[in-house]
Amino acid sequence: MTKEKNGYKAGVLTVSDRSFAGQREDLGGPLLKELLEDLGFEVVDMAIVPDEKDQIVEALKIMTESGDLALVATTGGTGFSPRDITPEATIEVCDRLAPGLAEMMRAYSAKITNRACLSRAQAGLRGSSLIINFPGSPKAIKENLQAIAHSLEHGLDMLRGGQADCAKENK
Ligand code: MTE
Repeated sequence: MTKEKNGYKAGVLTVSDRSFAGQREDLGGPLLKELLEDLGFEVVDMAIVPDEKDQIVEALKIMTESGDLALVATTGGTGFSPRDITPEATIEVCDRLAPGLAEMMRAYSAKITNRACLSRAQAGLRGSSLIINFPGSPKAIKENLQAIAHSLEHGLDMLRGGQADCAKENK
């Protein structure tokens, strides 16, 4: 069931050499779009870049430039493979980090798989946009988003100067 719109626009960035080269279907990006729409986001921007730091940085800068996108969710490149560089690109573009989101994702995921500790995902703020890294597999995307879904809107309300009452419905 699609939730009522939350008023926030989002972008999804797939980071994958193989998807960028057309050698593998991008399953993560479209799934992330669908799940974010279920949470009430309007996903208005989708892009695919290879596991190249400069290109990830550039894409994140473009997606956050106007401030139109409240959330930019990346998928892929958070593991230990030699080419995995999404977290470093994210840190480079963020003004402030939001480590609690990544901590929550790993803590929640650790109850499901011991390999949760292998995600190096980061989250942070660039201007008025929140950037969150998700792992690459569809299963991991679903589980990691579940871990933080309840707090995203409140965080964005704070970031974007809306009504954010920390005392209300604070579970
Ligand atoms: N988190 C959850 N919830 N579920 C998963 O299946 N997979 C892990 C981890 N986090 C996983 C998870 C694995 S096996 C890896 S290698 C890292 O995420 C990084 O994934 P990535 O390289 O696809 O970004």
